[in-house]
Amino acid sequence: EQNSPKPPLKIMLAAPRGFCAGVDRAIQIVEQALDRFGSPVYVRHEIVHNKFVVDSLKAKGAIFVDELDEVPAGAHVVFSAHGVPKSVPADAENRGLSYFDATCPLVSKVHRQAERQVEAGRHIIFVGHRGHPEVIGTFGQVPQGAMTLVETVEDAENLQVPNSSNLAFLTQTTLSVDDTADIVAALQRRFPGIVGPKGEDICYATSNRQAAVKAIAGSCDMLFVIGAPNSSNSLRLVEVAERAGTISRLVQRAEDIDFAWLDGVKTLGITAGASAPEVLVRQFITHLATRFDVSEEQVVTAEESITFKLPRGLVAAADPV
Ligand code: F3S
Repeated sequence: EQNSPKPPLKIMLAAPRGFCAGVDRAIQIVEQALDRFGSPVYVRHEIVHNKFVVDSLKAKGAIFVDELDEVPAGAHVVFSAHGVPKSVPADAENRGLSYFDATCPLVSKVHRQAERQVEAGRHIIFVGHRGHPEVIGTFGQVPQGAMTLVETVEDAENLQVPNSSNLAFLTQTTLSVDDTADIVAALQRRFPGIVGPKGEDICYATSNRQAAVKAIAGSCDMLFVIGAPNSSNSLRLVEVAERAGTISRLVQRAEDIDFAWLDGVKTLGITAGASAPEVLVRQFITHLATRFDVSEEQVVTAEESITFKLPRGLVAAADPV
């Protein structure tokens, strides 16, 4: 039997894509803690929003829990990259747990800004997505009632605040750059005296990944975002592609692809959210190559060289014991 030749498929790879410095650091913290203290090491919440990452850490001896009361006394626990309310480290200390905080330093920076604005007597408008762990963590840095959540331009238009002349705004790090600019503009229109960061707090990795998708979306018939459904920055990448008029799908694993989606697709864009490892991108392409004659082109819109230091207690772990 003779195989018919595979149809050609051009893959455009957005760059930067995938792991950011905060995710890389969070994973290293769990790995180093396992190396140093042996298993199990407990991790409160998904260390980053990616099943592949969580499963591989589980295989190395990490145990994932929802709350600290599931962690036995004397154990080591790591807090996830999204950040935690202040009550969590306090609770860990009360329980006699040793903890390592894998909160991304760019999230911690927003936490410190929140504290400072409250100290300055300002009420904070926080732009973010209700229920996301980062939002819960940031709200947990300030006394209850000190911060109000705004999710949309409409929320900003209808917002009622205690004192409109003494306001600050802060944002989640993984938002849509374009939507956030609109929301911030709406806040500034309504409250001209509002103080805030220059631009917003969206991190370099989020904005670089969105810009990279914008650069290729117009040339692609379809775009896959490799990432998890609870990953905020991955969902935003799907939106960016769709706004450029390109059909986009969030996919977690290569096996999730239905080849029927690709009927008529000549050029396929691929990117990955900040918590998705590059190995998943390679698995996708290998899987696509079973059906198509694939060619790859990478489009680089920014170079990233940022890295974050590990917490002090773990740096020593790198030294010979
Ligand atoms: Fe940090 Fe941004 Fe990554 S906030 S964890 S660098 S997506």
